[in-house]
Amino acid sequence: MSKALEGIKVLDFTHVQSGPTCTQLLAWFGADVIKVERPGVGDATRGQLQDIPDVDSLYFTMLNHNKRSITLDSKNPKGKEVLWRLIKECDVLVENFAPGALARMGLTWEKIHEANPRMILASVKGFGPGRYEDCKVYENVAQCAGGAASTTGFRDGIPMVTGAQIGDSGTGLHLALGIVTALFHRTHSGLGQRVDCAMQDSVLNLCRVKLRDQQRLAHGPLREYSQFGEGIPFGDATPRAGNDSGGGQPGRILKCKGWEHDPNAYIYFITQGPVWEPICDIIGEPGWKTDPNYATPKARLPHLNEIFTRIEAWTMKHDKFEAMDILNKYDIPCGPILSMKEIAEDEALHRTGTIVEVDHPTRGKYLTVGNPIKLSASPADVTRSPLLGEHTDEILRDVLGYSEAEIAEIEHSGAVGAVQKIAAE
Ligand code: COA
Repeated sequence: MSKALEGIKVLDFTHVQSGPTCTQLLAWFGADVIKVERPGVGDATRGQLQDIPDVDSLYFTMLNHNKRSITLDSKNPKGKEVLWRLIKECDVLVENFAPGALARMGLTWEKIHEANPRMILASVKGFGPGRYEDCKVYENVAQCAGGAASTTGFRDGIPMVTGAQIGDSGTGLHLALGIVTALFHRTHSGLGQRVDCAMQDSVLNLCRVKLRDQQRLAHGPLREYSQFGEGIPFGDATPRAGNDSGGGQPGRILKCKGWEHDPNAYIYFITQGPVWEPICDIIGEPGWKTDPNYATPKARLPHLNEIFTRIEAWTMKHDKFEAMDILNKYDIPCGPILSMKEIAEDEALHRTGTIVEVDHPTRGKYLTVGNPIKLSASPADVTRSPLLGEHTDEILRDVLGYSEAEIAEIEHSGAVGAVQKIAAE
């Protein structure tokens, strides 16, 4: 079976997390992703949060699978020459440098478009045009500026960031969609274009329902928020809603058997209207099926704390998996709170390739998240991340067509730094 993006060459000028998540997706779909890194240094994440001394960190390896690495000093004249040759050869340039850095390298859109009119230039920045456009931005800054932090956490606590990297990986996903859309557009326009994703915008897109609630506030309280049932007035902005469900069906995280010693012995439980009757039977409150104070979703809203306390008295008698089994028989929407340990050991996730074991020449075996997007006719095999500059010679020779003498000259100029030779694996 062929890969969906086979034949597409990506000049991957990304670092840290947001850009690399995007180019990793393109690589999984079969694009030839050529990661350009600074000689001797490389992507800063190679050395960040290192668990094994002098070995590429999991931070790096888990974001850079299926790519090739070339080291190139983009400020060295010979390095610039190689870079322009790469620009002419590739279909897409992806970058997430600080605002202005690409232009400071001499790589403006006008020059790139002139050199290769078919090239797509895809960029991640923290903010779009506006008062913060020149700021350097990391994950949590984007979560805060994109509306996630102000709407995450409990009403009476401080704003919270989430563990899901919606600022970095979320923006990488948006950018990848922009790139494949631009590639499709190119099939009939014949021309490349710019694809810009701001991390603030991507987070806001993922917080869409909270902007929905902001506008609903003008027409009365948000009745599905616990705060309504507790009689606490709403202010003028979407409040933090704890673990309330965002979809209008009351939901909470409830304790399960073992919660006293297991921090993840919890279940998410939704009291969806159509399954109210089986819920009443299961928790031993059959009278609530017809009691006017509980029988309809609207009547239940002021009693949600009491209702969930009663349901929790039931969930606390079962471990989260037992509770799932019982509730699923009645289509009662619920979900176990799974720890990362449980996820890492989940056989089904291993079978589908969502969790993959990868072998690495200096690290050995480690687990990673494979491609979560499954194409039926384009399998995504996960191969290890490249060592720094591992493919420098190969790219200069096979992709750019340099002769051995020219490669020696490039090496001599210092443009690619010391070329690392990799021992046979
Ligand atoms: N050869 C020579 N110089 C190189 C190079 C190479 N191969 N690769 C990078 N550099 C240089 C850049 O040109 C830049 O130099 P300049 O400032 O003189 O123009 C320098 O390295 C630093 O790049 P920068 O992007 O500013 O890195 P940083 O570590 O200071 O900032 C971020 C990191 C992530 C904050 C910043 O890149 C950023 O805001 N990116 C956009 C938003 C983003 O993606 N954030 C999420 C990260 S997960």
